[in-house]
Amino acid sequence: QQRVFSGVQPTGNLHLGNYLGAIQRFVALQDSYDCLYCVVDMHAITVWQDPAELKKQIREVTAAFIAAGIDPTKHIVFNQSQVSGHAELAWVFNCVARLGWLNRMTQFKEKAGKDRENASVGLYAYPNLMAADILLYRATHVPVGEDQKQHLELARDIAQKFNNDFGPSMAMLGIEGAFFPQPEPLIGGPAARVMSLRDGSKKMSKSDPSDLSRINLTDDADTVASKIRKAKTDPEPLPSEAEGLKGRPEAENLVGIYAALADVSKEKVLAEFGGGQFSTFKAALVDLSVAKLGPIGGEMKRLVSEPSHIDAILRDGAARARVIADETMHHVKDIVGFVR
Ligand code: TYM
Repeated sequence: QQRVFSGVQPTGNLHLGNYLGAIQRFVALQDSYDCLYCVVDMHAITVWQDPAELKKQIREVTAAFIAAGIDPTKHIVFNQSQVSGHAELAWVFNCVARLGWLNRMTQFKEKAGKDRENASVGLYAYPNLMAADILLYRATHVPVGEDQKQHLELARDIAQKFNNDFGPSMAMLGIEGAFFPQPEPLIGGPAARVMSLRDGSKKMSKSDPSDLSRINLTDDADTVASKIRKAKTDPEPLPSEAEGLKGRPEAENLVGIYAALADVSKEKVLAEFGGGQFSTFKAALVDLSVAKLGPIGGEMKRLVSEPSHIDAILRDGAARARVIADETMHHVKDIVGFVR
C-alpha cells in the first residue's frame, strides 16, 4: 500500500517556500495516494510558543491546506497532538536512535545556535518525533522541501534499526518482512529550495527578521508586487538556457518560483523570458503570483474567521488518523515486549 504523510509547523508566516516546496505538492499527490497532512503542533513547541498564538497558527495552517485544495473528506487533515501515538512512538524511537545520529543533524545546530546548552531537549530529539509521525502510519512517501532531506534519512535509519533490532520478536509474532517501510522522500521540482528574496544564498524562512525576504501566503496583491519588485537581482539580462543561471542565485530563484507557480520547467520559462530585462520578467512574475496566491490567501482569511469549522475538520481527521495509529501502536507494543 502506498501512503503519503507530511507535516507543516504552525509557527507563523507560512510563505511561498512552504507553499511551493510542500503544500502545492500535497495537493497534487491526492489523486494518486491516500494522504495524511498533519499540522505538527508538538514540533512547534520545541521552541517557545505563546499559547494563544499557537492555537491561531494551528488553525491558520489548516486553513492553508484547505484553501490550497486539500480535500479533508477524501484525505486526513489533523493536528499531531490529538493523536497520542505520535508521542508514544517517538519515545520508542528515542530509544532506537543513537546520540551520534542526532549529533549530525545540521538543522539542530542552526536552530540551537551558539547557546546550545540552553536549547530544549525537545529540539534535539525533534527528528525522532518526525520519524514517528511518518512511521506511525507506515507511510511510504513523504513530500518535503530540500531542507528536510537529512531528517528523512534519519527516519529511514530508524525504521531499519527497529526492524533489525526486533527482527526475532517480529518473527515470533508471525510478522513477516519489514514492519516499518523505508519512507521515500519526494523532493524535487524547480522550487525544492526557495531562497530569500533579499539574499540568494539563504533559504526563504519563517524566522527571517526581514519580511521583504519572503512572500507570505496572506500578503495582499500590493505587498506581493512590491516585494517582487524589490527582490534582489543582478544587472545581467536573463539567460536563454538554464545553464546560464549558474552562479546567479537570485535570478535562478526567481525563475524557479515562476516555473513552480506555472507548473513548467525552468527551461520553458527561459525560452519565454531569456534575453529580456528583469523588469519585464518581474512584472510577469507579479501577475502570476497574485493570480495563484490571491485566491488562496483570501480563502484562508475566510476560513480562519470560522474557527469552529476548522476545529471540527481537525477533530474528524484526528479520529480517522487514530484508527491507523492505534493499529500500529498495538503491533509496536507487542514487538517491543510491553504488556497490554
Ligand atoms: P516546516 O514547517 O519548516 O516546513 C513545512 C514544509 O515546507 C518546506 N519548506 C520549504 N520548501 C522549499 N523552500 C523553502 N524555503 C522552504 N521552507 C520550508 C519544508 O521542507 C517542509 O516540507 N520538520 C518539518 C515538519 C514535519 C514533517 C514531519 C514533515 C514534522 N513531521 C513528517 C514531513 C514528515 C518542518 O519543520 O517543516
